[in-house]
Amino acid sequence: ADPDPLLDFCVADLNSSPSFANFPCKPTSNVTSEDFFFNGFMTEGNTSNVFGSRVTPGNVLTFPALNMLGISMNRVDLAPNGINPPHSHPRATESGVVLKGKVLVGFVTTGNVYYSKELVPGQMFVIPRGLVHFQKNVGRSKALLVTSFNSQNPGAVILTNTLFGTKPSIPDHVLTQNFQVDASVVHGIESKFRS
Ligand code: GLV
Ligand code: MN
Repeated sequence: ADPDPLLDFCVADLNSSPSFANFPCKPTSNVTSEDFFFNGFMTEGNTSNVFGSRVTPGNVLTFPALNMLGISMNRVDLAPNGINPPHSHPRATESGVVLKGKVLVGFVTTGNVYYSKELVPGQMFVIPRGLVHFQKNVGRSKALLVTSFNSQNPGAVILTNTLFGTKPSIPDHVLTQNFQVDASVVHGIESKFRS
């Protein structure tokens, strides 16, 4: 989904640009083998949170050699019963493979059709670009998956945070009208997602 590159590589110089989108290249004379290898997936993510999950990104911001190359990956750890909550990636299609555990993967189309399957290690899935999806550990042990994207920075719109965790908050009357509930219900949800 990202533009085609004009160079072999352009290891991002994350210090020299205020912009997330378009990084200048680190001078080639400063580029070493180390730039093209990423250790960030070697350690298990900390899943001690309400969702029991952790996404560790290997995108241009953590692995600057991905700059301009149009791809990235995540490590996703799920504690037993943990969920990577419903979200979408505005800039990428996602594919993934389950490496450990039993994982329910689901997504919803723009026509509100829900597709899902329980996957075991070795099985791969795809989430078409921009569609809302989740993964949930439905086994007894920890689950591990690796996901991959056709963008160096796919972005993630996490639905709970998008509606109930914004700064400033979306006005109560908008959320109560949208969900057809009382303000107390909205406040109860917001109290869990406002950080
Ligand atoms: C999983 O959905 C991920 O975005 O890594
Ligand atoms: Mn995703």
